[in-house]
Amino acid sequence: MLYILDTANIEDIKHCNEFYPLAGVTTNPSIISKEGKHFRETLKEIRHIIGEDKMLHVQTVQKTAEDMIEEAKLLKKECGGVFYIKIPIGEEGLKATMELKKLGIGVTMTTIFTPAQALIAAKAGASFVAPYVNRLDNIIGDGTNVVAEIVKQLDYYKLDCKVLAASFKNAEQVHKCSCVGCHSVTVSADILKALISHPMTDSALEAFEADRIKTYGQKTLLD
Ligand code: E4P
Repeated sequence: MLYILDTANIEDIKHCNEFYPLAGVTTNPSIISKEGKHFRETLKEIRHIIGEDKMLHVQTVQKTAEDMIEEAKLLKKECGGVFYIKIPIGEEGLKATMELKKLGIGVTMTTIFTPAQALIAAKAGASFVAPYVNRLDNIIGDGTNVVAEIVKQLDYYKLDCKVLAASFKNAEQVHKCSCVGCHSVTVSADILKALISHPMTDSALEAFEADRIKTYGQKTLLD
């Protein structure tokens, strides 16, 4: 399982990159706009924090295959490191993906809502397909089941493509996806924290601390 951060918030990226086994960062036009900062500068800052070896997924805003390809080349050059262009599923997007595959530029096909969309994206050469779990759950579309079916299809046809599940609103959705073999998830900093938090962990630690202090006092081996 790869854990990726779905944000352009610099403080969150710095924090999660330091404390979690992060594989990279994903953005989309809404996520970058939310921070209200210069587009290119924001991407450069993210790359500076995560380094060259972690993945940076950036979404194209172009409408034709030709423009998507040009933007992908430009962004890859500017962002450097391990880079994926996010392209929404559609005819122009598929055409661009097939071309980018030949050029060696990785594609994450996004705005995926069905296994059929994911399968064709993978056949076109996408390295990742990004189904929107919470948006599916919101319309009783069973996001986890869509992820499970995509995982099964990619495995069945032995396609070199991974599921990058996206659009999560809680830790339970992430956990359910991990139970069906989802390869990677992109989540907020809050969800990452929720994934490691448990009130029983907190109370166990409090009890250990109280017992130790009762017997040995406040000092530790490092004092
Ligand atoms: C994925 O590619 C998107 O960036 C994102 O996860 C969508 O999440 P939302 O449904 O919270 O907007």
